[in-house]
Amino acid sequence: MNKSLIKDVKRTFKKKFRAKPLIVFSPGRINLIGEHTDYNDGFVFPAAINKGIALAISEGEAEKSQVYALNKEELYDFRLDNISPLKNGGWKNYILGVVSGIQKLGLSIGNFNAVFAGNIPGGAGMSSSAALENSFVYGLNELFSLGLSKSEMILVSQKAEHNYAGVKCGIMDQYASMFGVKKSALFLDCRTQESTPFKIDFKDYRLMLINTNVKHDLSESAYNDRRSVCETISRKIDIKALRNASTEDLNTIKSEISEEDYQKALYVIEENERVKLFAEAIQEEDINALGNLLYQSHEGLSSQYKVSCVELDFLVENAKENPKVLGARMMGGGFGGCTINLVLKSDLKRFKRDISKKFQKEFGNDCSVYKVKLSKGTHLLK
Ligand code: GLA
Repeated sequence: MNKSLIKDVKRTFKKKFRAKPLIVFSPGRINLIGEHTDYNDGFVFPAAINKGIALAISEGEAEKSQVYALNKEELYDFRLDNISPLKNGGWKNYILGVVSGIQKLGLSIGNFNAVFAGNIPGGAGMSSSAALENSFVYGLNELFSLGLSKSEMILVSQKAEHNYAGVKCGIMDQYASMFGVKKSALFLDCRTQESTPFKIDFKDYRLMLINTNVKHDLSESAYNDRRSVCETISRKIDIKALRNASTEDLNTIKSEISEEDYQKALYVIEENERVKLFAEAIQEEDINALGNLLYQSHEGLSSQYKVSCVELDFLVENAKENPKVLGARMMGGGFGGCTINLVLKSDLKRFKRDISKKFQKEFGNDCSVYKVKLSKGTHLLK
């Protein structure tokens, strides 16, 4: 699947630019557990997957840089000396943001030509934007020998998201996409930005993603609002981030904040604990505990942090009724996108059929089902 993506990108590049490009593959990610904890300096448990962005890039000779988005069949050219975010710029803003981030580090690049294409479903909460940012920062770093480390590159990608896409995201997506390890998930401390890879073997169970194929409008402003609630509460408790708070700490300021905000902060504190328990359960091979933690995480995201939606709740409720599903929860920022499910291998087909039928009946739209492989992070292809 990635092979044909890469082939298409190479072929198109050759046709358009008649040069020999560097080829970068940059994956999307899933997240086992630890949602909305990254920007609270907390813990997350993501993994890079076998879907992503393929990029062909070479130095350009024209006055401008040229980027062709193969999926959209759109060509965009721009000058490097006058970069700012575009209104409704879509994919272009991620690339402009990366270029501007590199320039802000005092590094200089020359004009380039690029073709990219992806196979991560958009809006699914699988970080197609982080994959795109990482592919460009990685490609440009290589092409112009900028000497950036992977840790520096992901900060460029994250700033592109903040300043050019307007989402004040944490570091999880860019980190997982850049540092992913084959067959493993990364137990990541978002404060130190250091991770431990855990080999993932769910025995008779498999991960299955179910995409609601909806993305409710609220998602960006609601995301930034959540982040600001967490920061305000941290300031009130007088700590650097909610990562440092216990429930007791939170209770000392309970009377100063609304019940809604209290629940949001409590969710973050509890979710951080769940990530640590999840890591322990993997080590102890306690698959049932993993499933329960997934359900608890969803409950918190839905009723305390309030980032779920009817479609996601429906999928998780249905998973709960099926004894062959050990656990399920919404994944990513929320308000649409996917649920991640831990399903008995021998029941995958039946579960897929049943849930697809029920979803269609309830909402009149189809959901999509994916299996994913845990894969390595952003890399160059020979
Ligand atoms: C989005 C953001 C991440 C993270 C998740 C929620 O994917 O980009 O930084 O906050 O939402 O866990």
